[in-house]
Amino acid sequence: MNESESFCALVVREEEGCCVRSLEERRIADLPKGEVLIRVAYSSLNYKDGLSATGNRGVTRRYPHTPGIDAAGVVVESSEPRFRPGDEVLACCYDLGMNSPGGFGQYIRVPAAWVMRRPSGLTLWESMVYGTGGFTAANSVERLLACGVRPEQGKVLVSGASGGVGCFSVAILAREGFKVTAVSGKESARELLTSLGATEIISREQAVDHSGRLILKGKWAGVVDTVGGEILATALKSTRYGGAVTCCGNVAGPEFAANVFPFILRGIALLGIDSAECPMARREMLWGKLAGEWKIPGLAAITTEIGLAELDGAITRILKGQVQGRVVVRLWD
Ligand SMILES: NC(=O)c1ccc[n+]([C@@H]2O[C@H](COP(=O)([O-])OP(=O)(O)OC[C@H]3O[C@@H](n4cnc5c(N)ncnc54)[C@H](OP(=O)(O)O)[C@@H]3O)[C@@H](O)[C@H]2O)c1
Repeated sequence: MNESESFCALVVREEEGCCVRSLEERRIADLPKGEVLIRVAYSSLNYKDGLSATGNRGVTRRYPHTPGIDAAGVVVESSEPRFRPGDEVLACCYDLGMNSPGGFGQYIRVPAAWVMRRPSGLTLWESMVYGTGGFTAANSVERLLACGVRPEQGKVLVSGASGGVGCFSVAILAREGFKVTAVSGKESARELLTSLGATEIISREQAVDHSGRLILKGKWAGVVDTVGGEILATALKSTRYGGAVTCCGNVAGPEFAANVFPFILRGIALLGIDSAECPMARREMLWGKLAGEWKIPGLAAITTEIGLAELDGAITRILKGQVQGRVVVRLWD
């Protein structure tokens, strides 16, 4: 493809200490060197993209920058023989959209090690409904199951339930036969969460203990925590004997108070979840589940599709915790 060819991308620039976002014309030559050039059909909006789009140095060190940690599209060129022009592929996480131009541009060029074939059983669009949010839900639930958490041991808790990771966690756990209690700050998410399989919905306030006690009544066989902070601290104290808690996010705060008693009296486990550097073999295994036994009917019902021009407002909304379900970004009109 001609390196001087231009395309459209969301570009975040730092101007006088502020981050300014606009749609700009970029050239293929502006993309980094890499083995696989992909024409992006769809991306998705994740909380991390919001951070990257607003100057968070923990996510993106250098600006100007194009965020978008997820991309699904068609190979245009590949110097790696595993991929041929026309192949439908996904590129999610690693450094994509963090310090490498991401899926909010119509083309990306990436190392072949970041690319996987579109899982059979999912269209490009469906794979971006899942995106990193759905993948992280699968990653979290699989860890709980591998830790021995089973439906007959009691209810499970999911925090940030109406968000990307949360809503898929609710749906997958329900599919595995668990009774799922969803924590949500949105009254309006009740219908969505019930339709995904939540049997009980509690408010964020109800999920936080203020008694100061070091250990609470054991309620949960397992927990998928996507928010951190006080909700995670309370979940650890409320997990039943032998249970496990996954931790993947920090929207409620990066720090949490903990003490040893849930660990030494109840033998619970705290499981860290990372999707960015997840090895390719595990990635393919989890995407296979999302495309197969864990595939959720009616993905459209939890999805808002937007064009590049609507990204700016959606980024503001995700950072305010106002997004319900998933946002898929259409790159071409
Ligand atoms: N470790 C990894 O590899 C990995 C991968 C993906 C995502 N993450 C992290 O996981 C978290 C969730 O990501 P996401 O893409 O699902 O984000 P999201 O779609 O924005 O969902 C987050 C949800 O958390 C709840 N929430 C927002 N602000 C809150 C607050 N102050 N206190 C308590 N709950 C709050 C909201 O749900 P309700 O209104 O229903 O409460 C919100 O919808 C983020 O921190 C993200 O960075 C980590």
